[in-house]
Amino acid sequence: MTVIDELVTLEEEAVAALAAAADLDALAEWKSKYIGKSGALTRLSRGLGALPPEQRPEVGRRVNALREQLDAAYERAEAALRAASVHAELAADRIDITMPGRPPALGHMHLTNQVIAQVREIFGELGFQVGESPEVELDAFNFGLLNFPDDHPARDMQDTFYVEMPEGAPSVLLRTHTSNAQIHAMRRLAPRPLRVLVPGKCYRNEQVTARSEMQFFQFEFLAVGYHVSMSDLKGTLGYFAERMFGPGTQVRLRPSFFPFTEPSTEMDVSCFLCASKGCRICKYSGWLEIGGCGMVHPTVLRNGGYDPQVVSGFAGGFGPERIALLKYGIDDIRNFYNGDLRFVKQFG
Ligand code: DAH
Repeated sequence: MTVIDELVTLEEEAVAALAAAADLDALAEWKSKYIGKSGALTRLSRGLGALPPEQRPEVGRRVNALREQLDAAYERAEAALRAASVHAELAADRIDITMPGRPPALGHMHLTNQVIAQVREIFGELGFQVGESPEVELDAFNFGLLNFPDDHPARDMQDTFYVEMPEGAPSVLLRTHTSNAQIHAMRRLAPRPLRVLVPGKCYRNEQVTARSEMQFFQFEFLAVGYHVSMSDLKGTLGYFAERMFGPGTQVRLRPSFFPFTEPSTEMDVSCFLCASKGCRICKYSGWLEIGGCGMVHPTVLRNGGYDPQVVSGFAGGFGPERIALLKYGIDDIRNFYNGDLRFVKQFG
């Protein structure tokens, strides 16, 4: 076989093999086999020296022409394969704009806030305005001005989260109840009669269990005016109980103690779970304890800027989580704060 024949065979073989190279790997293999440094074409051109001198120019030209042809064919094939792989990538990433969208998850009011909303509505019907009071509070508003003696056990470090303050600064804490709102509301509105409702978050340094949390909500209600009496308190509670727990719900007041009320009472409602027949939740008593209330202590009225000789008032502080626990038969108060959507979603 002459060198020219070899060149023709090589050209045919290389062209066919290039057409068969289906991807960039195959192409690289082709390159090294035919036009690479130790490829077939290079090997052939090295053999030129062995040819008779008169054949060399012709064969040399043919070799160079073939190299140019194969180089160009390689470039074209590579460009085509690269374009194809970009297309494949784009096709894989293609977004189907006709596909229906994923609906965003809709949130809803948390159960605690639902109860608070209902409480606001009920007290609103009785002419109470809604107020706020600080969660981070001066000791004086949370305790002292509410007639807590300096050595009252509720001030104990175990119950109260104190805020670290610089030397000599007044004592600051996370409010342990919404009763701090009493002084703020009275000082803002005295000497006018007032009716305010203040819902808000409270904190106590308590062991967290199924029955107690270290964070919880309360709502405080306070009415101050002329001739405000215990029967006004009881009437207000009766209205609240029927609206919150259902028609026919009874209210009873038991004697209790709070430094800021005199007399102080604990409010119970007739058990709406068993119609007062006695059940596990009401401990077979027919009554459910809701929270503390009473007639505002004269010292507290005075601290709020009122003259206790002229006006009187009633107040109370209840827990919306406790109300929700009872209404919905929830057995673990931690559910309100652990963020478990399986719980939260049941009350959407
Ligand atoms: N602050 C009391 C507590 O956290 C509840 C309370 C009792 C509030 C009697 C009042 C009240 O306004 O009159 O337990």
